Amino acid sequence: MDDAIDEFQRSGVQLRFQSLLVVALLALPLILAGSSIGQESGESTKKMSLKDAAGDRFKMGVGVSEQVLADPQCAELIENQFQILTPENCMKPQGIHPAEETWNFEAPDRFVAFAKDHGLEVVGHCLVWAKDDRTDDWMMQLDNGQAVSRDVLLRRIENHVATVVSRYQESATMWDVVNEALADGEEGYLRDSVYTRTTGIDFIETAFRTARKHDPDALLIYNDYNCHFPDKRKKLIRLLSELKDRGVPVDAYGMQGHFELGDDSLTQLVETFQALRDLGIKVVVSELDIDVVKRGRWWADDGKYRDELKTYDPYKDGLPDEIRQQQIKQYEALFRLFDEYQDTIARVSFWNLHDGQSWLNYFPWNRTNYPLLFDRQFQPKPAYDAVINVLRETETDHASSGE
Ligand code: G3I
Repeated sequence: MDDAIDEFQRSGVQLRFQSLLVVALLALPLILAGSSIGQESGESTKKMSLKDAAGDRFKMGVGVSEQVLADPQCAELIENQFQILTPENCMKPQGIHPAEETWNFEAPDRFVAFAKDHGLEVVGHCLVWAKDDRTDDWMMQLDNGQAVSRDVLLRRIENHVATVVSRYQESATMWDVVNEALADGEEGYLRDSVYTRTTGIDFIETAFRTARKHDPDALLIYNDYNCHFPDKRKKLIRLLSELKDRGVPVDAYGMQGHFELGDDSLTQLVETFQALRDLGIKVVVSELDIDVVKRGRWWADDGKYRDELKTYDPYKDGLPDEIRQQQIKQYEALFRLFDEYQDTIARVSFWNLHDGQSWLNYFPWNRTNYPLLFDRQFQPKPAYDAVINVLRETETDHASSGE
């Protein structure tokens, strides 16, 4: 009897043990799945950086001022997220070379040293900014105040480009050689400036040839805005074709990418990327952001809305969710497109690090803007998660289709 009770008790214990084992085995996949779902949605998204998510499709970069680099929080974010840095202002002709014999190397030296110390590449920005209001008098005039001659201007450009490129060629892997030389919209071919009035497109040739001479391996870029719109695109393709016909070493078009919310530019971007691909010219997205307080009206009807706009600051207390969602969708669509053209696109750089630092809080009037992927507290926004997800999904699609 006792034996029977013992046997009964043993089998009961065994049964309970077996049941527990079965339950545990059944639950194991769920426990494991649970922990990896946690990682997928939370931790891994937090840990996955833009540069890791983009992988070897294109480099991820950001344009910042040299002051930003002195802030440890900014420095950490930059180092974690990006591979390549553009100096927002300090390497521009008016910053680095304010008079013929005067050079301000201190700030750009500091910028490039930061990049070097943090294992980052540099985009030299920009060697020639082809606008009169971005050009100092010493460059456009002779000592007696007369307009500069073609030969003197080309020699000055050559000297400027040679000096800057040879100083920073070790860290700079890409150069914005000429910035904004094309006229806007339906206006003529080249923007009216001392450069085009005096030399036509020859100054562009001189700048690119000199840059190539002093940095044979760098990607040499022609940088401009709004060239995905058909009128300006025609001029871009004409310019790049003319330069190629002359044997000028231009490697890429820098699409600044200062978009506005809902500007529906996808079809035009596809046509532009296609045309550049056909021409054998790479694309870099050089200054990406999406303005949520549209600025086009500032220039409309000869500026008659400016007084009204100067006090227009609709999102000073925060961004409505509807606007946030629109911006997320726009970023998603852009990154899907960038993925599709990964054979053509060499880099995607944001213009400024976080919303609070964006130039769009001040240009063309003061307003509270939210154009980037990080918020004013350095935190990734939902748009950041959306971009990471697009980059991960598209990478998985390529992997599963064997691309
Ligand atoms: O640092 C001075 C400050 O001392 C002074 O008190 C203040 C008064 O206006 O000006 C400050 O300098 C400003 C500088 O930004 C730094 O904030 C300049 O006035 C202002 O003109 C300058 O604007 C820059 C602009 O290019 C012109 O160089 C923007 O930061 C910069 O984001 C913007 O970047 C350009 C790209 O280079 C080319 N593509 C378009 C893009 C946006 O305009």
